[in-house]
Amino acid sequence: GDVPQFQQAMPVPETLEPTFASGTTAYYSMTMKEVDSEILPGRLTRVRTFNGSFPGPVIKAVSGRRVVIRQTNHLTVPTSIHLHGAHVPQSSDGSPMDLIAAGGGTKTYTYPNSQPHANLWFHDHAHHHESETVYRGLTGLYLLSDDVEQNLDLPSGVYDVPIALRDARFDDSGQLAYTMNDPKRTVLLANGKAWPYFEVAARAYRFRLFNTSNMRFFVLKLSDGSSFHQIGTDGGLLEEPFETASLALSPGERADIVVDFSRYAAGTTLVLNNARPLRPDDPVDQLTKVLQFRVAGPVANSTLPATLRTLPPLGSATVNRSFELSMDETGVTQDAYINGRPYDMDRVDTEIEYGATEIWTVRNASTRLPHNFHLHLVQFRVLERDGRPVTSGPESGLKDTVALQPGETVKIQATFTGYEGTYVYHCHMIDHAAMGMMANFRVSRSRV
Ligand code: C2O
Ligand code: CU
Repeated sequence: GDVPQFQQAMPVPETLEPTFASGTTAYYSMTMKEVDSEILPGRLTRVRTFNGSFPGPVIKAVSGRRVVIRQTNHLTVPTSIHLHGAHVPQSSDGSPMDLIAAGGGTKTYTYPNSQPHANLWFHDHAHHHESETVYRGLTGLYLLSDDVEQNLDLPSGVYDVPIALRDARFDDSGQLAYTMNDPKRTVLLANGKAWPYFEVAARAYRFRLFNTSNMRFFVLKLSDGSSFHQIGTDGGLLEEPFETASLALSPGERADIVVDFSRYAAGTTLVLNNARPLRPDDPVDQLTKVLQFRVAGPVANSTLPATLRTLPPLGSATVNRSFELSMDETGVTQDAYINGRPYDMDRVDTEIEYGATEIWTVRNASTRLPHNFHLHLVQFRVLERDGRPVTSGPESGLKDTVALQPGETVKIQATFTGYEGTYVYHCHMIDHAAMGMMANFRVSRSRV
């Protein structure tokens, strides 16, 4: 606990420029490599990165315009790059077995962006390596915009700030300790810096929050207890802003919020806290503080639009399925399961008719841990949580990852259209996916 808090400024992750752009397509090139980054003040930590950026770079894309990324892997382990939340063909999904060889392998991913605006992110997904490689930094942000979003008068430019949140544990030499599970060694990072501060003008800001942690759940609150507006979730904007004083974010989930600092006098500091309950001997200062805001002038008032977007109609489902998340909690096998089976790359667990709308009931009935549930290919809707219909609030938006506390059940609905192919669903606590809490679904047209 000797890492000073609120000493480093929080950087804004750098936006990557295309190497070439045609009328329909923007081309990028990224090299995965290890570099040293200053995460703790005055120390250098070895990290795995895209193009040397920690946190990863930002790609800004627009709906209807393709993005092509050539990835070159100069790490010592294979990788597979998954664009989380994206609607893409299987060949560009970065599935767990579709590997880019270590030591110079390349692969070109094509992202059609045939979906509405959303805050997406990309990360390693190579089976059995993903957990350590993501932990060591191989993540990046992908902000997909469209006219609906751009025509709203939301805070923009320097007032629109993506923030990648995560935890990390460090050994005595300042290096990331992947296997260590010591809360006293835990540091919370915002945009790759330990407990940074961020200077803001006394006006409204849009923060796009990404939980890029392997395992950590956040419950975010401002230290003065005041409220802010959540305007979006994993799959883009909500229908209308939702006023709240607290925001839960499980690994992989995103939230788009607007915080209005115009109510604060210049010189005010406030902290974005993590209010998730702690165990009795947890180091409170370390695990509850995320980031400090320092309010400077000048003051500018702004108003938030009353309505943001219209969500696509739900449609009616024709298929119901159930999924049970479980794991060996004795620690003997370190196995984790969906419907009693660990991931098998050669087994298709769920066959889906192309175009079908389905309701999936997902249960975390038997484990003592929280989990979450992420589907590739689609954005879904949460219909019910523990039998209560979800009709408003953040869970009524488009989602690709949904949290399940112990004992909870959620019902989600998705329409499987656009691409045929094999994709995965899994717990996004990445270590659990690596332990087997993952399965394949295949979307295909029935051969009648
Ligand atoms: Cu963000 Cu299959 O993962
Ligand atoms: Cu899990």
